[in-house]
Amino acid sequence: MSELNLIMLGPPGAGKGTQAERLRTDFNLPHISTGDILRAEVADGTELGRKASEFMNAGKLVPDEVIVGMITGRVAEGDARDGFLLDGFPRNEAQAEALDAALLELDRHLTATLLIEVPDDDIVRRLAGRRVCVKNAAHIYHVDFDPPKHEGVCDQDGSRLEQRADDREDVIRTRLEVYHEQTEPLIAYYDRAGTLRRFDGLRSPDEVHAHIRATVATLRLEENL
Ligand code: AP5
Repeated sequence: MSELNLIMLGPPGAGKGTQAERLRTDFNLPHISTGDILRAEVADGTELGRKASEFMNAGKLVPDEVIVGMITGRVAEGDARDGFLLDGFPRNEAQAEALDAALLELDRHLTATLLIEVPDDDIVRRLAGRRVCVKNAAHIYHVDFDPPKHEGVCDQDGSRLEQRADDREDVIRTRLEVYHEQTEPLIAYYDRAGTLRRFDGLRSPDEVHAHIRATVATLRLEENL
C-alpha cells in the first residue's frame, strides 16, 4: 500500500481540524496539528509554550525556527511511515520549502494538498461560535453549526467545552490578514507542484468530508496502480 502524505490548507476556521479528525479515522493516519501541539506546550507551561503564546494570542505566526524542526522531525517518526495529515503546517513559503527538503531526504513525496475554501465573513461567524474540549482539542463543536448534545459538554468524553483564547473577533481579523499575506501564496505554490485539490468549505461538515474522502481514496488507488 502506498503512502498518503497530506496537507490540510485553508484559512483559520475553514474546518481543517474538523476534517482532519475524520480523515484520521478513515485512513488511519496521524493528525499532526501545529496549533494543537503549540497549545499543549502552552498548557504545560514549557519554555517553547511561553514563547509561542505571545504570538498565538496576537494572531501572528510563531517564528519558523520554533516550528520547522518540530514538524520535519515529526513526519519522520514511525507512526507517520505510511503517511500523515498535516494541519496548520506549512503556513508560509519557507515552511513549504523546508517540508519539501525533509520529504526529499526521506525519499518521499507529497500526495495532495487539500484546500478548504471559505470566505472571510463566514470565518468570523464560525470562529466566534467554536467550542473545543478541554481534554482533547481534536473534539471540535460549533454552537449553531455542530452543537454538542448537552450545552458546554463534550459528546465524546464528557469534558467541559471552552472557547479558544485566539477566537476573539479582533484576533480573528489579524489571523485572517496573516493568512492572506503569508499562507495564501501557498495555493499557487502547490498548484504549480500539481498536488492542489480544492473543496467548497461552505457545504456541511458531512458533505465536505464525503468529497475529501472520495478524492483521497481515488488518489490512493492511482498511487497503487
Ligand atoms: P491553528 O490552531 O492551526 O489555527 P488556524 O489555522 O487558525 O485554524 P483553526 O484551528 O482556527 O481552524 P480550522 O480550519 O482547524 O477549523 P475547525 O475545524 O476548528 O493555529 C493557531 C495559532 O498557532 C496560529 O495563529 C499561530 O500563532 C500558531 N501556529 C500554528 N501553526 C503554525 C505554523 N505552521 N507556523 C507558525 N505559527 C503557527 O472549524 C472551525 C469552526 O467551524 C468549528 O466550530 C467547527 O465546528 C465549525 N465548522 C467546521 N466545518 C464547518 C462547516 N463545513 N460548516 C459550518 N461550520 C463548520
